[in-house]
Amino acid sequence: MAKLYLLLAILLPVAFVLVHGQDQQGFISIDCGASNDYTDDITGISYSTDDKFIETGVSRIISPEFNTRILYKRFSNVRSFPEGTKNCYTLRPIQGRNHSYLIRASFMYGNYDAKSQPPEFDLYLGVNKWNSVKLEDAFSLTSFEIIHVLQSDYIHVCLVNTASGTPFISALELRLLNNGSYVTQSGSLELFVRADCGLSPSELLRYPDDSLDRIWEPLNDDAWEVLNTSLPVTPNRYEPPPIVLTTAVTPKNANDSGLKLPWSSEHNVSNDFYFYLHFTEIVKDLQIENQTRTMNIFLNNKLWYGPFFPDYLSAFTVYSTSPETGSYFEFWINKTENSTLPPVISAIEVYTVKQLVLSQTDQNDVDAIMNIKFFYGLKIRDWQGDPCAPTTWNGVNCSYSGFDPPRIISLNLSSSGLTKSIAPYISDLILLQILDLSNNNLTGMVPDFLSQMPDLRILNLQHNNLSGTLPSGLYEKSKNEAIFLSVDENPNLCSTNPCDEKKDKKSDNSIVIPVATSVGGFLVVLLISVAVFCGLKRRKQAAVPNLTTVNVEFNIKKDEESEEIKKQQFTYSQVLGITKNFERVIGKGGFGTVYHGYLNNSEVAVKMLSRSSAQGFKEFHAEAKLLTRVYHRNLTSLVGYCDEGPNMGLIYEYMSNGDLAWHLSDRNPHPLSWEERLKISIDAAQGLEYLHNGCKPPMIHRDVKTTNILLNEKLQAKLADFGLSRAFPTDGDSHVSTVVVGTPGYLDPEYYISNRLTEKSDVFSFGVVLLETITGRRAIDKNAKNKDQKGHIIEWVNLILSRGDIYNMVDPRLDQEFDKNSVWRAVDVAMACASPTSIRRLTMTQVVMELKQCLAMEMGRTVGSNVTESSELPEMFRRTQRVPQSR
Ligand SMILES: *[C@@H]1O[C@H](CO)[C@@H](O)[C@H](O)[C@H]1NC(C)=O
Ligand SMILES: *[C@@H]1O[C@H](CO)[C@@H](O)[C@H](O)[C@H]1NC(C)=O
Ligand SMILES: *[C@@H]1O[C@H](CO)[C@@H](O)[C@H](O)[C@H]1NC(C)=O
Ligand SMILES: *[C@@H]1O[C@H](CO)[C@@H](O)[C@H](O)[C@H]1NC(C)=O
Ligand SMILES: *[C@@H]1O[C@H](CO)[C@@H](O)[C@H](O)[C@H]1NC(C)=O
Ligand SMILES: *[C@@H]1O[C@H](CO)[C@@H](O)[C@H](O)[C@H]1NC(C)=O
Ligand SMILES: *[C@@H]1O[C@H](CO)[C@@H](O)[C@H](O)[C@H]1NC(C)=O
Ligand SMILES: *[C@@H]1O[C@H](CO)[C@@H](O)[C@H](O)[C@H]1NC(C)=O
Ligand SMILES: *[C@@H]1O[C@H](CO)[C@@H](O)[C@H](O)[C@H]1NC(C)=O
Repeated sequence: MAKLYLLLAILLPVAFVLVHGQDQQGFISIDCGASNDYTDDITGISYSTDDKFIETGVSRIISPEFNTRILYKRFSNVRSFPEGTKNCYTLRPIQGRNHSYLIRASFMYGNYDAKSQPPEFDLYLGVNKWNSVKLEDAFSLTSFEIIHVLQSDYIHVCLVNTASGTPFISALELRLLNNGSYVTQSGSLELFVRADCGLSPSELLRYPDDSLDRIWEPLNDDAWEVLNTSLPVTPNRYEPPPIVLTTAVTPKNANDSGLKLPWSSEHNVSNDFYFYLHFTEIVKDLQIENQTRTMNIFLNNKLWYGPFFPDYLSAFTVYSTSPETGSYFEFWINKTENSTLPPVISAIEVYTVKQLVLSQTDQNDVDAIMNIKFFYGLKIRDWQGDPCAPTTWNGVNCSYSGFDPPRIISLNLSSSGLTKSIAPYISDLILLQILDLSNNNLTGMVPDFLSQMPDLRILNLQHNNLSGTLPSGLYEKSKNEAIFLSVDENPNLCSTNPCDEKKDKKSDNSIVIPVATSVGGFLVVLLISVAVFCGLKRRKQAAVPNLTTVNVEFNIKKDEESEEIKKQQFTYSQVLGITKNFERVIGKGGFGTVYHGYLNNSEVAVKMLSRSSAQGFKEFHAEAKLLTRVYHRNLTSLVGYCDEGPNMGLIYEYMSNGDLAWHLSDRNPHPLSWEERLKISIDAAQGLEYLHNGCKPPMIHRDVKTTNILLNEKLQAKLADFGLSRAFPTDGDSHVSTVVVGTPGYLDPEYYISNRLTEKSDVFSFGVVLLETITGRRAIDKNAKNKDQKGHIIEWVNLILSRGDIYNMVDPRLDQEFDKNSVWRAVDVAMACASPTSIRRLTMTQVVMELKQCLAMEMGRTVGSNVTESSELPEMFRRTQRVPQSR
């Protein structure tokens, strides 16, 4: 009944006496899908197009067979929303919040899409579901009307696709109501029935007869007689239209003492109702005639109101002050015993209570995000309606607490094609914890307000065109690890403090000369073709000082060179001193044995090459020399080397926490957390990315595996043994072959077949490492008891994925302590890396970016535990979430 099914909207000119000049202040009248503004001939209402209220959808015309001359113009076209789940109109009545408004959405299908299939979809008011729209046929007019007090200065009316056809809308109207009318204890009022008793059947009343543009239907009964007057009636604050009040009904049979008005709720479901009964006395001078008309109103046989009598030509409204609950209501309006005249009634309105309990997002946050949207001219399809509810906008995350307005705590505009500067409005999102503006084309300075935002924990500004220096506040915060900051790949941004040193280095770099000139009696000429220059083209690393890459200087001239090199070249006797005569063995590999040592009070690892493996000794010197100059925070730095006859050794910085393989193994009593695993993976990925992109020609590691990822005392990861496989193609348990190098389990199948080595071979190995990191399994588990678990980790993961059993893929030692989306994304990254075809694999730059996203998600979980769970989770993953914790 809330829907007014008005079969054939026949125009009834009789009912509409045009009163020109009545203003439409407080009206918003939108003819959805219309091509131009117009004034309706019949009502005089000025309808506007919907351009200013919505950005999405397409305008369509209903089928000509329904577009008859007698149809209201506003139904002749619709706006249809074939794309996006949620599409919203934004209405901003000038009177703003705290006022009560009548909002009416109207629909007529009219077979506009020639599918002859009326759709079903949901209608939302703000963040709350208002109703389901079910259109039964092509020609019914359906409308929904609600009386609602605005909590903010705008309201969204949204159409939500429920996969039962394309949502559309014909007209949308908003009317300001009088303050103090239609007040409820709680909730909004959805129209159930609004009827003018005695209005001739097939008539409808609205504006201009009703200055508030309510629509009145006729209500008649054979037992009633209609009274009328031509005199004007004084309205009250409900402003029933005069034309409604000048007619009234009374029992036809003068012996009947009452008028019956029954209602039952839709589907007999108990509901809360509010009733408004309008009366007026239209018979003159009752007292003089010794007449009385005194009435009582009974509701379900209980006196509801009375006795009372309305004054002559004056509106009198009896209304509920609290809701009446039930599914069936029977009103009796009876004259009192003493009353000489029968009862009368002019009109009745019945509403059901709609509790729209969900709060809209905090208005300051909404204003801020809207300003950001306009600042960048963002056209993101789902950036409509409320940013946090009922679902969040893409890239936005919110915190929710009870009935309080949701707040925006995370904003991800990565890869959104942003230009211009960093929007100042971001500072208005005062509870923001995560901000990702990476991969855009942002220019200008990094604004200082970012360092003032109290809750900001993660700030990603990577890969932009930002310039200037980093605000010192931000620099300090990142140094103190109060903020996780990424500013890589902003070529003009100085991310260190002070800035000048860096600049000097840069200018030095510009006069680079190749290093591979012959030195001494070594046959380094052979190496010219493979000489590697790292850091020359390197973009800046993150601003966190300990994350900063020290650019490698290659501008050493020949004379200086030998001087420089000497510092890094150690004699065999010096090596004996460093290692205290090879006192402590800390590892053994194919290249030889690794010993612990001290060099200038810092710990070092000395790897002595076994003679048998050192077949490439001729290249060793040049190679080692080169590697001593490759610095990256995620590469184990070679502090020196020894090259004395058969005694060849490499001196590395000491990594006190061993390798990743051990940390992932059962032998480690303190399993790494998911966050630690991600950070280690990011470190390793960055090291690899540096070899691939920071070196020219790219340096291919060839032996990426968990035992080559070493951890220092802060669990910072560094890649070891890079560059060695070139000179010494036999490592550890390498599958020794004259051409193919690498470790079984990590070996790129494509390289194995083609012998063509590219960076993508490292990516494959990295993918395997990542899978091991996620699952806690080894690349090839030879000892697995279970048959399923034998074989390669990729096969195993594929098997698990095909069973939809992802939950059981994650290392049980994580004990379910992780953000599922973060893990899921990492699995995606790993599987993309480990793709059998190299063309499908990601680049290490993409891998770094993706893993940082994973880390941000995971940190989002630990920072704000009330961050909403994204619905991006695949269905099978959600299902398995209920697996009981096994301990
Ligand atoms: C709206 O009403 C709320 C509470 O009733 C009040 O705090 C607020 O000041 C009002 N705002 C305006 C603009 O009237
Ligand atoms: C509406 O009227 C109530 C009292 O009837 C008053 O408290 C409220 O501030 C008024 N609101 C506006 C927006 O005028
Ligand atoms: C009013 O009532 C009189 C008689 O009761 C009737 O003749 C007349 O048509 C009515 N007017 C309207 C507008 O219904
Ligand atoms: C009304 O009641 C009177 C007496 O009770 C009776 O004579 C008369 O017929 C009744 N009229 C109708 C229309 O029933
Ligand atoms: C009201 O009037 C009707 C019809 O005259 C009667 O059946 C009913 O009992 C009356 N109700 C009360 C509460 O007097
Ligand atoms: C609704 O409920 C009333 C009373 O509870 C009952 O008399 C009536 O038959 C019901 N109607 C439907 C359609 O179930
Ligand atoms: C009204 O009643 C009073 C006394 O009850 C009487 O004097 C008077 O004549 C009556 N008037 C009419 C018009 O019937
Ligand atoms: C009816 O009228 C009598 C006499 O005028 C009065 O005593 C009685 O209270 C009245 N009853 C009602 C219900 O008004
Ligand atoms: C970024 O902006 C600059 C200057 O507006 C422009 O030259 C450059 O092409 C843009 N780059 C991209 C990737 O859009």
